[in-house]
Amino acid sequence: TRSFRIAAIAGDGIGKEVLPEGIKVLEAAARRFGLALEFTQFDWANCDYYLQTGAMMPPDWKEQLSGMDAIYFGAVGWPATVPDHISLWGSLLKFRREFDQYINLRPVRLFDGVPCPLANRKPGDIDFLVVRENTEGEYTNLGGIMFPGTEREMVIQESVFTRHGADRVLKYAFELANARPRRHLTVATKSNGIAISMPWWDGRADAVGTAYPDVAVDKQHIDILTARFVLQPDRFDVVVASNLFGDILSDLGPACTGTIGLAPSGNLNPERNFPSLFEPVHGSAPDIAGKGIANPIAMIWSGAMMLAFLADAPGADGARYRAAHDAILAAIEQSLRDGPRTADLGGKATTAQVGEAIATLVGA
Ligand code: NAD
Ligand code: IPM
Ligand code: MN
Repeated sequence: TRSFRIAAIAGDGIGKEVLPEGIKVLEAAARRFGLALEFTQFDWANCDYYLQTGAMMPPDWKEQLSGMDAIYFGAVGWPATVPDHISLWGSLLKFRREFDQYINLRPVRLFDGVPCPLANRKPGDIDFLVVRENTEGEYTNLGGIMFPGTEREMVIQESVFTRHGADRVLKYAFELANARPRRHLTVATKSNGIAISMPWWDGRADAVGTAYPDVAVDKQHIDILTARFVLQPDRFDVVVASNLFGDILSDLGPACTGTIGLAPSGNLNPERNFPSLFEPVHGSAPDIAGKGIANPIAMIWSGAMMLAFLADAPGADGARYRAAHDAILAAIEQSLRDGPRTADLGGKATTAQVGEAIATLVGA
């Protein structure tokens, strides 16, 4: 049975605090289920490295990572010293593009034991998947500023949508929805105001959807869609969105489940031509960094998603990896019911205490 090489990249701020807890839990799972995971730590793709070298990553970063089976990533960004667009375009956004991780899969779930900020919601009412397009759309460097510093200053920022790019994320979302009991797909658009790309996106959803007659499609403008995340979260099953809309929905959804400190993500290249990347949805949280109080569960759950993805790799002993995924999820559930809690969940526990508690449950 094969082994997997995992690149561990901590990044900045709480990325450096939550990543070790994620690895601790994965190593506990590896011992219990007989998984072969080899971690290699990379001390670049962080703002200190940028301040020392003038770049976020070494020139041969792609060669160094190409042989990896997955990347386990903390968070990047330290805006006090490096502008965010420099640090993020120099690292995370580069990975997503260069490794063609065109799916950003972001589950949203209300857990038993976690107080819900929405009235009268119980576990089961909020349980959906955000599928975010992850390589194009509103995230571009195309455009510029004319007449800078003058009254005539003019800014142009282009968006890019391709048929290839839209169709492949829509197909992925339809496949996911088709395999779930409710078979329901929400398509986030804004085809009233964004008059070119969004009516086109709706049209691509219709075209791709003809192959999935059993999936109910619900197209919603992004404005009312955000309202419904709050007012009717039980309405959602799979939600597919462009890069920026998906970014916004994937912070709002987890906020509706109590904290963004739980939200995981998989940046997937489903064809496995390149390594996929697993990371919390949240960032480096400079406001709490260095205190050891960040919630590590988003990082830990992202590790479980990584195992589920590796389970389907050629030559993998899939059953073991799936069992390990399920054990980590069960440990997270139990820990949220009666284990130690970090401050975002109203507790006093440290990052390491929560990580340790979950690792112990996984190993038992
Ligand atoms: P953020 O997600 O870092 O923090 C937002 C708020 O949520 C903060 O109050 C923070 O304390 C809290 N929070 C986040 N994660 C938490 C956790 N695990 N436990 C408890 N509380 C948590 O978003 P931001 O403040 O907009 O960004 C900070 C930096 O992170 C910026 O440089 C930004 O560009 C970067 N960022 C990186 C990523 C990434 O690497 N994937 C994602 C988002 C933001
Ligand atoms: C995320 C983050 C990134 C994004 C930032 C840090 C560039 O917010 O992963 O959600 O916008 O994609
Ligand atoms: Mn985001």
